[in-house]
Amino acid sequence: MAWYFAVVERFHEIQNPTSVEKIRLLGERLGLGPGSHVLDVGSGRGGPALVLAGEFGCRITSVERAEEFHSVARERVREAGLDHLVELIHADAAGFPIEPGRYDAALCLGASFIWDGLDGTLAALVPAVRAGGSVAVGEPYWRRWPLPDGFQPDPGEDFTTLDETVRRFEGAGLAATALIDASFDDWDRYETLHWLSAEGWLAEHPGDPDAEEIRRLFDRQRDRYLRWERDLLGWAIIAGRSKA
Ligand SMILES: C[S@@+](CC[C@H](N)C(=O)[O-])C[C@H]1O[C@@H](n2cnc3c(N)ncnc32)[C@H](O)[C@@H]1O
Repeated sequence: MAWYFAVVERFHEIQNPTSVEKIRLLGERLGLGPGSHVLDVGSGRGGPALVLAGEFGCRITSVERAEEFHSVARERVREAGLDHLVELIHADAAGFPIEPGRYDAALCLGASFIWDGLDGTLAALVPAVRAGGSVAVGEPYWRRWPLPDGFQPDPGEDFTTLDETVRRFEGAGLAATALIDASFDDWDRYETLHWLSAEGWLAEHPGDPDAEEIRRLFDRQRDRYLRWERDLLGWAIIAGRSKA
């Protein structure tokens, strides 16, 4: 069975509405260097890990559940000659044993659903970092509140406003230290690469038993993006320093 995200994100360098430059900025704001050890959960095809390890020489422990993405990340890390810095773990991050205080920074970029949202993610990751270490989460937020009539968030999309999102970091014992927002260009680049990937896959697999379902999911998402989400949904990487 072809998995929808493995189809639509097969070309993505980074699987979020952000950029290599913004991940580099994140590394600077986190103060990463050759002595740092970073935990990256829901690490996907390894895009952020490649940028951070390549640019700052830090060690990264990446945890990714999907074999489709884990295997690509392994190949990309090997090709970049970064095996000595990036450890790739193929596992469900929800069951991954996180050693308290082990890391200088913990990242979850676009995967807070692993712990049922931002609060659960912060509760899981704050203990992972040493005192003075940082937690960074890439998280959607609503640009407008209340949401307009006619728009219904999907189950699990219990996002909030940007200011409330930042307050949740403070509530989790973090002093907010960085906000790196997605621009419309970042969003369009991320979303429309789904279009290219899906249309290409569908053209290449006309008789595939999964083609109808991939088409249905893809059409629905493109429609939601153009009609609602491009206007309503923001996404930002927020970082905070542990006060513990
Ligand atoms: C939106 S992608 C982001 C990937 C990566 N952080 C990036 O920015 O390129 C979310 C990733 O989380 C992974 N994921 C989802 N549930 C997971 C889980 N329980 N444990 C580990 N990874 C998970 C997905 O397979 C996917 O690769």
